[in-house]
Amino acid sequence: MRIMQASGECFPYSKTGGLADMVGALSKALAAKGNEVQLVTPLYRGILEKYPDIRPLEWDLDLSLGDRTVSGSVYYLEPLKNLTIYFIDQPDFFHRPGIYGEKSEDYSDNAERYMFFSKAVVNLARYLPQPPDILHAHDWQAGMVPVYVQHEHFRGGWHPAPKTCFTIHNLAYQGNFPSTAFELANLPGDYFSPHGVEFYGQLSFLKSALVFADHLTTVSPRYAREILTEEYACGMAGVLQARAKQLTGILNGVDYEDWNTTSNPHLDYPYDAAHLDGKDRQKKKLLKQMGLPSNRKAPLLGVVGRLVDQKGGDLLLPALHATLDLGYQFVLLGSGMPHYEEGFQRLAKDYPKQVAVQIGYDNALAHKIEAASDFFLMPSKFEPCGLNQLYSLKYGTIPVVRAVGGLDDSVVGLEEDPASADGIKFSEYGVTALESAIRKAVEVYQDTVLFNQLRQNGMAKDFSWERTSEEYMTFYQGLLNPQRQ
Ligand code: ADP
Ligand code: GLC
Repeated sequence: MRIMQASGECFPYSKTGGLADMVGALSKALAAKGNEVQLVTPLYRGILEKYPDIRPLEWDLDLSLGDRTVSGSVYYLEPLKNLTIYFIDQPDFFHRPGIYGEKSEDYSDNAERYMFFSKAVVNLARYLPQPPDILHAHDWQAGMVPVYVQHEHFRGGWHPAPKTCFTIHNLAYQGNFPSTAFELANLPGDYFSPHGVEFYGQLSFLKSALVFADHLTTVSPRYAREILTEEYACGMAGVLQARAKQLTGILNGVDYEDWNTTSNPHLDYPYDAAHLDGKDRQKKKLLKQMGLPSNRKAPLLGVVGRLVDQKGGDLLLPALHATLDLGYQFVLLGSGMPHYEEGFQRLAKDYPKQVAVQIGYDNALAHKIEAASDFFLMPSKFEPCGLNQLYSLKYGTIPVVRAVGGLDDSVVGLEEDPASADGIKFSEYGVTALESAIRKAVEVYQDTVLFNQLRQNGMAKDFSWERTSEEYMTFYQGLLNPQRQ
């Protein structure tokens, strides 16, 4: 099969969160299974300098954006057999300090930037000498891709057009813009209707994909069910319910080539389930690096993530305040909403021996925190999949999670099944519930046998993409041969 992936970010070239990890790893795994994979992503600032093997493709992009024609070009890289990455170059749009914005503010021309990107993807899909069978777009940044495929297929003579699939990584990010942005689409006016790309008077990139993609997937089975309810649908419940039969939840996998503890350039001491001393040493080293005293009796609780409402910062701060007298230590790496950044920095000032906080983005430190921590906290309000808990399990770091979305699908809580448990779960979205879960973690740490059992259960789990990519392949086959479904 020839599969084109389209994504606003892709690891290791660009990343703000799990979307990049997922798209990079899925593409690699599909290529390893013999599929021909074409991955299209923007050429952000710094990528060319970091990857000198990237080459220009003989390809001019002259794309309409309303009444303007915007030019761009395409670069490509073949990092692996069967995998070609196409980078869309448009310096005015993509050579900037940030990916989607700066200092918590989105760029004001994101509609133009990602309309251009979506049109460039479709241009490649239609005119490359080897066109894809499947066009798989991810999140709102590539949300306009399916509507163009349909439009050019039904009204523009594109035969055979690829089947389209759209993966929802996070319904909270919708790419909604004032109605005037519809001009940038250069589509006939009838598309701007409640049955089309319009959402409460705005142009919605996400809704456009939900309506026009041949099939929708999301990144865990439970999130696929949750988003059919008003509580989790971020206003899209009606649209999603109408497409419920074409909505599939597939749990993300992990790229263990990047996320492993035995040969990882970001870790100072390798370790595995049978040799955990390296993990202890990493903990000591991290505590020192982050300015905390070493204390064998104190469990280390870690957090790495975007500091936004989704991740439960409003529970975490008061729950930590209420439980730090238990004597544990806490490290956090993250960036996001200023009030969370300030809140965690204040906490570190108030508890200098117990709490260390680094604001910013640092991939190497993320690996070190995963490896050094005894527990990893994810009290998310909603979590489409969540990758950090999957990394934690492999790193022997017990996840403490709210039973929601992919967190619920991937972690077995102590209260669910003590024998196979690999984490601690709580259900209610509330400070007291998180406090109890933290207390439970500290209790488990004192019980060496139980602590080790949870850790060993987690480390034995396999969430590799090798397996998960099969699910995508079966799903793609079904899309190409619907009669066999
Ligand atoms: P989301 O995609 O919602 O942010 P995930 O758990 O799926 O959540 O993935 C987050 C990914 O981003 C992980 O690989 C995590 O390590 C990484 N990450 C998040 N914040 C940071 C940060 N400040 N520094 C380094 N890596 C980060
Ligand atoms: C989103 C979600 C996260 C998921 C990631 C990759 O950013 O918030 O839960 O793991 O996408 O699919």
